[in-house]
Amino acid sequence: MASNPSVLWYVTRASGLVSLLLLTAVVVLGILLGARWASPDWPVFLSQAMHRFLSLTAVVFIVLHVTTAVLDPFAHLGLSDAFIPFTSAYRTLWLGLGVVASELIAALVITSLLRAKLGFRTWRAIHWLAYASWPIAMVHGLGTGTDARVWWALLLDAGCLGAVVIAIAMRLASGPLRWVAVRALAGILTAAGSIALGIWTVTGPMQSGWARAAGTPTGLLAGHGALSSPPTSSGSRSSQASLPVGLAVRLRGTGVQNSDGSGTITLVEEGTQNLQITLNVPADVGGPIQLRVTQGTSIVCSTTATFNGQVVAAVCGATQVNLELGSSDDGGIRGTLTTAAVTP
Ligand code: HEM
Repeated sequence: MASNPSVLWYVTRASGLVSLLLLTAVVVLGILLGARWASPDWPVFLSQAMHRFLSLTAVVFIVLHVTTAVLDPFAHLGLSDAFIPFTSAYRTLWLGLGVVASELIAALVITSLLRAKLGFRTWRAIHWLAYASWPIAMVHGLGTGTDARVWWALLLDAGCLGAVVIAIAMRLASGPLRWVAVRALAGILTAAGSIALGIWTVTGPMQSGWARAAGTPTGLLAGHGALSSPPTSSGSRSSQASLPVGLAVRLRGTGVQNSDGSGTITLVEEGTQNLQITLNVPADVGGPIQLRVTQGTSIVCSTTATFNGQVVAAVCGATQVNLELGSSDDGGIRGTLTTAAVTP
């Protein structure tokens, strides 16, 4: 149960980011195509056909993103959460914005197919409305994404915003003179919107505690259920821990190696930072590993663990704890903690 959700989770995140990139490319190209005739040097490949191709590719990735988000059991999303905005228990507002964005895009695709019947003016009005899906999707990604605080994801978001702002500026600069007041207003609104997005990102999603503020259900914040009993003393061979069974928690962290060959690995729960894990690894390979699980300042398990080359395993009270470790893209360590009832 632990490994499959993990793959789906990564696909959800990756496809969300790719969808945003593609959507940005679609929006930038759409805005610039309006100003194309202003320059005879316009690259031939940046055409309506490319705009359509990118749009359809974006739709494919959005479908993948939504499907894997629903299939991954972590957030307990149902089909209705993916189609009816603002109904999910998980981060209601921020997830709901993703649903609104994808429905605007669905409306765009359907009306484009019916364009001949709708007439150009109606189709164009809906087309412009669909551009609103870009900022809405951007806020959704920042508000609900696990990677919203990671530097490379922030850079990617900033790059997307910069590209759209530059495209809007180019478009506004090349419009007809009689629309100068409208263009100035559009420029002011774009600048104000970008500044507001930046301020909100810094004061909201980038702050610790955002997971709770964003509306993550308490059960998920506490790791699929309260870690109920009081902490036990550290250093005992096996504490009477109260880690619930059925957890599947993703963690990230770093490792430090001492001069004598021993080392310490510290990991924290992704997103919520609710659980922390410390592993003290001895210098001699195969020696007992000290595992400590803490929640906030409380130690919920402190015990010795074994390592079979892939999984650190320990027993905390009546709970079997398995910790699968791997390296992360940023050079750190990632882990998946799963718990099950100890089999007699
Ligand atoms: C235009 C449509 C959408 C776009 C462009 C989009 C894009 C994104 C982005 C960029 C992220 C952040 C990923 C990360 O931080 O690694 C994200 C996260 C997420 N999205 Fe969407 N999304 C869209 C629609 C939806 C819909 C309709 C759902 C409903 C099921 C959804 C569910 C999620 C979930 C559950 C996450 C959190 C994953 C995580 O914690 O990293 N998205 N989305």
